[in-house]
Amino acid sequence: TKDSIIEDLLAKMTIEEKVGQLNLIPFGQFYPKDTVYKWIKEGKVGSILKSNGAKTNLEVQKVAVEESRLGIPILFQEDVIHGYKTIAPIPLAEAASWDLPAIRNSAAIAAREASAAGLHLTYAPMVDIAQEARWGRILEGAGEDPYLGSLIATARVKGFQESNGKHQNLLATVKHYAGYGASLAGRDYNIQNFSERELRELHLPPFKAAINAGVSSVMSAYTAYDGVPVVANKYLMNTILREELKFDGLLMTDWMTITNLVASGIAKNDTIAVKMAIETGHDMDMSSKVYLKILPSLIKNGTISEKQLNDRVRKVLRLKEKAGLFENPYAFFDEKREKDELMSPKNLKETREMAAKSMVLLKNENNTLPLSKNQKIAIIGPFAKSQKDLLGWWSAKGEAKDVVSIFDGIKAQMNNNKISYAQGCIVENFEIKGEEMIAEAVALAKKSDVVVLALGEKEWMSGEGGGVASLLLPGAQQKLLDALSKTKTPIVSVIITGRPYVLTDVAKKSSALLQAWMPGTTGGNAVADILFGVVNPTGKLPVSFPYHQGQVPIFYNYKRTSHSFNAGTGNNRYSTTHRDIQTEPLYPFGYGLSYTNYKYKNIRLDKKLMSINDSVKVSIDITNTGDRNGEEIIQLYIFDKFCSVMRPFKELKDFKKVAFKSKETKTIDFYVTKEKLQFIGINNKETIEKGDFEVMIGPNSSELQKVTFTLK
Ligand code: IFM
Repeated sequence: TKDSIIEDLLAKMTIEEKVGQLNLIPFGQFYPKDTVYKWIKEGKVGSILKSNGAKTNLEVQKVAVEESRLGIPILFQEDVIHGYKTIAPIPLAEAASWDLPAIRNSAAIAAREASAAGLHLTYAPMVDIAQEARWGRILEGAGEDPYLGSLIATARVKGFQESNGKHQNLLATVKHYAGYGASLAGRDYNIQNFSERELRELHLPPFKAAINAGVSSVMSAYTAYDGVPVVANKYLMNTILREELKFDGLLMTDWMTITNLVASGIAKNDTIAVKMAIETGHDMDMSSKVYLKILPSLIKNGTISEKQLNDRVRKVLRLKEKAGLFENPYAFFDEKREKDELMSPKNLKETREMAAKSMVLLKNENNTLPLSKNQKIAIIGPFAKSQKDLLGWWSAKGEAKDVVSIFDGIKAQMNNNKISYAQGCIVENFEIKGEEMIAEAVALAKKSDVVVLALGEKEWMSGEGGGVASLLLPGAQQKLLDALSKTKTPIVSVIITGRPYVLTDVAKKSSALLQAWMPGTTGGNAVADILFGVVNPTGKLPVSFPYHQGQVPIFYNYKRTSHSFNAGTGNNRYSTTHRDIQTEPLYPFGYGLSYTNYKYKNIRLDKKLMSINDSVKVSIDITNTGDRNGEEIIQLYIFDKFCSVMRPFKELKDFKKVAFKSKETKTIDFYVTKEKLQFIGINNKETIEKGDFEVMIGPNSSELQKVTFTLK
């Protein structure tokens, strides 16, 4: 049986070999090949990261299987976050599609490519809820909402781990457990100040969803919870993760986080740090090698029992078993499959569709979009010909040379003599550069019918370590926009960023505004598909877009307070508002336009009284009043009017993405069950209280129609 393979191995292993299985080391630039091979032969390496390709990994695997004493195969791991070679839009962008089957499919494409390139496990999905646009890693998650985030976590886990007929495609790792997204002021790895209530309301739900979806491993965060780094936090790891969430898979550290316990002053030395990491159940040590160096002596002197060690090793071996490695350690290394799979026409086509689904149309005055191919189009901006910036952070083996730029995407759908190009300014870093290029761009705009203006941020400006204080587009981009707006030629701004920027002035000066995020390998094609109306945009924001940087962090599910702001008035001094600016964001959570319009009317309930095991049906009539077919993301929010703890005015609890033909009306039904009314009660446990609830339905979190019912 499977268990007996593992128990037989354990019985044969020395303490050093057991510890070797817990050791995860990077390959490539970190250690020379000879050194790594020597360690593998000595049984000191259980898993490897940053080693890719069927050929390379086959060679490494042969060393492990044929030249180490017990021949235990290596588990190859990598950051396959949004694609392996065909790069999909950044995860935050995909979240804007609200399209769970498409998100799942995108993860499955990444998994097929990565597993064909000899990988067994990915460090994804990243499910950290982020309300903070200054935090660079907001781009890796699904945005600010725990409900949407949980559904997306499930879709991604299932997509990565979808079977390829024989084995799992790619084992998934949910990260970073837990609360990493709350790093203060958006400075990466920073302290955090959230309560157990916030942990449970905001940060845990997507982890719970990923675990329920069968995720194979969990990576713990760099950060702390309640003053104790998570790697040493027994309450978060043992009580919540293992006992409460019943996670039975592999728990790994993040990069060097065991030795970081010394850096953060929690452990005096690495020996104490190792003991802490073992006591919180960390099965795998990423890159610090302190398990390898220190654990054997802690076992021998009795500080850690051999039983504790065996428990950790079992988790690693079980994962290897799950990946099919004991059956055939070479199954993943098939160069032919790799060649056929990477950037296959199917993968490219589906990634292009995903990219178009991810884009959010934020403004479209006078039907500026879609563009007509008879118009003279000036393509302007420092991101118009960018390739690398369209890939975004964590782009695995994606190569800039393979990326279709916005310019090339438009060109492919246009008659060449109608388009022209000017870079407009230079964005290299945060300095103002290339102002002298603005004049040429202005001259071009004057001769054109419309300007497509590609603005944004460099790929390295967001992502890990990509915290920024300013949320205004960097460099001379504002000056370029100011100058172009004086020409009176309509401007279509296309925004390439990994986070929400403050687009207040950009929106004012643009006739149309498209948030295109970092859309991946086929990004330029997808932008063109939207601009020309080949695709009718459907994306809606998974994060609030601030009106002003001083509003950040800004999110839709604010709790009711004694002095709650009454959105829109802005003149009541004694309320939870800023005196100088509007309280609302520029664009709220859930917002996004299309080339058609939808009218919502006649919200109604099937009953006014709900008993606990019953449900309430909420219906609404929606009409596509425009001339185009389209798809609309219909959102349902709930407000618990009186409760023992403060509750948000609205929380997303359901949504549907529905196709409407032009002029078609559909009645959309939702069912509110007790699961949608539960909350974290006064004792930090899930509970439900009787009373009045508002149910709201609408096209985004601010344009809602409501009805009220009572839970008896
Ligand atoms: O997976 C990542 C993690 O998100 C941040 N630290 C490094 C890991 C491996 O590259």
